[in-house]
Amino acid sequence: MTRVEREKLGGHAGRVVWLTGLSGAGKSTIANALERELNRQGKRTYILDGDNIRQGLNRDLGFSDADRAENIRRVAQVARLFVDAGLIVVVAFISPFRAERQAARELFAPGDFLEVFVDVPLALAEERDPKGLYRKARTGELRQFTGIDSPYEPPLAAELVLPTAELTPQECVQRICGLL
Ligand code: ADX
Repeated sequence: MTRVEREKLGGHAGRVVWLTGLSGAGKSTIANALERELNRQGKRTYILDGDNIRQGLNRDLGFSDADRAENIRRVAQVARLFVDAGLIVVVAFISPFRAERQAARELFAPGDFLEVFVDVPLALAEERDPKGLYRKARTGELRQFTGIDSPYEPPLAAELVLPTAELTPQECVQRICGLL
């Protein structure tokens, strides 16, 4: 069976929506709302995120630069399989480095990989601090935390930028759907 045959059966094309941004930017919230909306439209989807990847396939990896790079390399390969299966795969990882996001992009045909920058001011992510990790990073309890003592390289040419300080999750979903 080919990808084209699988897509025909599903009634839509396979794609990857790659959400990148700081912890607390809203990636998971948007991923979940996007999946709901796509399923409402009858489209087949899957979310790859820390919950299902870092606890299983990537549980040997931590948060050093090298481990993050390997995390993203594996996620990109898994995403490629999902696209080949004809699904819309929503990837929600910080994915802080341009080089690894670019390498991920290069696994896909032009137009199949949509990079979405979930853009939030660090101060707001830190204020939200849903998991209390920014506080721990500030007190030194947690090292190599993205935005504090580990870098985040914002995309230079994302297909879409979502300023989540100004948009509701539903507005973000509508904008992403406009690309699909
Ligand atoms: S990535 O940099 O390798 O893409 P990933 O998205 O998988 O990161 O994991 C980020 C999540 O792991 C954060 O939302 C946070 O809950 C948790 N986490 C634990 N330690 C760190 C850390 N040092 N830096 C960033 N996130 C961390």
